[in-house]
Amino acid sequence: MARVAIVTGGTRGIGEAISIALKNAGYTVAATYGGNDEAAAAFKEANGINVYKWDCGDAKSCADGIAQVTADLGDVDIVVNNAGITRDGMLHKMTAENWNDVIRTNLDSVFYMTKPVIEGMRERGFGRIISISSINGRKGQMGQANYSAAKAGLLGFTKALAQEGARKGITANVIAPGYINTEMVAAVPEKVLESIVGQIPVGRLGEAAEIARCVVFLASDDAGFITGACLDANGGQYMAS
Ligand code: CAA
Ligand code: NAP
Repeated sequence: MARVAIVTGGTRGIGEAISIALKNAGYTVAATYGGNDEAAAAFKEANGINVYKWDCGDAKSCADGIAQVTADLGDVDIVVNNAGITRDGMLHKMTAENWNDVIRTNLDSVFYMTKPVIEGMRERGFGRIISISSINGRKGQMGQANYSAAKAGLLGFTKALAQEGARKGITANVIAPGYINTEMVAAVPEKVLESIVGQIPVGRLGEAAEIARCVVFLASDDAGFITGACLDANGGQYMAS
């Protein structure tokens, strides 16, 4: 039977590409989203992938949502923690609300999405937890103290979980994309974005499908010896040692 994958924020941007790539690789996919019903309906219509609406930053919604996906599609084998938001601003201008929204949606969600599936994965001896971090969690970014903290937090979470899951066939890995051509990046002021693209050695933004291919690899049996890793896909903009 096909393995079941949940992709949070799987109806738009990078998540959309991940959902499609996993479906094409033979997985049964559940794509979640938070509020954009129109985009989700168009995605479902175009791709025939099941969509589910819940706030990934809310513990009960995640537990209930995962229970529904399990009832509909079967036990969850792969979680792709992709949903995320930005609330950019220099720290001296950042509100507590902007801090909390980003930590809740980008970091707390990863606990809320992983906790309900981890016991079943341990029992079945297989699991893949793949979390989408960011170049800005690796290097820090002015105007993104909240986002950089959340995305760096994913690295610690993943390294701990990788050790816990290793003997149970569960891998936990992070992908850290650079600047990818989605609506999230389109919100960056034009002049700033120009200067960012100037800092990317390959000379362009990345494409969502380039991140999706990383996910498909890390989800596969071929990647069973890779755990606790961070796969940087950033066009050479930041080369971590
Ligand atoms: N890279 C390089 N320089 C940057 C920068 C960046 N990412 N962000 C801001 N700056 C520079 C600006 O060019 C500007 O320089 P000058 O003074 O020389 O003109 C200076 O910082 C101050 O910026 P602003 O004048 O825009 O100041 P502001 O207070 O009005 O706004 C800001 C600050 C909200 C941070 C705004 O500059 C901004 O939105 N910057 C983009 C931050 C960013 O990179 N966000 C990434 C969003 S996409 C994403 O997060 C996905 C991912 O994981 C990669
Ligand atoms: P995007 O185009 O803005 O899409 C974000 C997705 O997340 C949407 O499907 C959105 O749902 C969903 N989402 C947001 N808040 C949610 C919530 N509370 N509950 C459930 N779903 C929620 O973003 P993207 O550029 O594809 O980014 C995807 C991930 O990659 C994010 O974690 C981002 O931080 C990370 N990333 C992006 C880049 C980049 O350059 N784009 C680089 C590095 C890392 P709705 O459609 O309902 O709004």
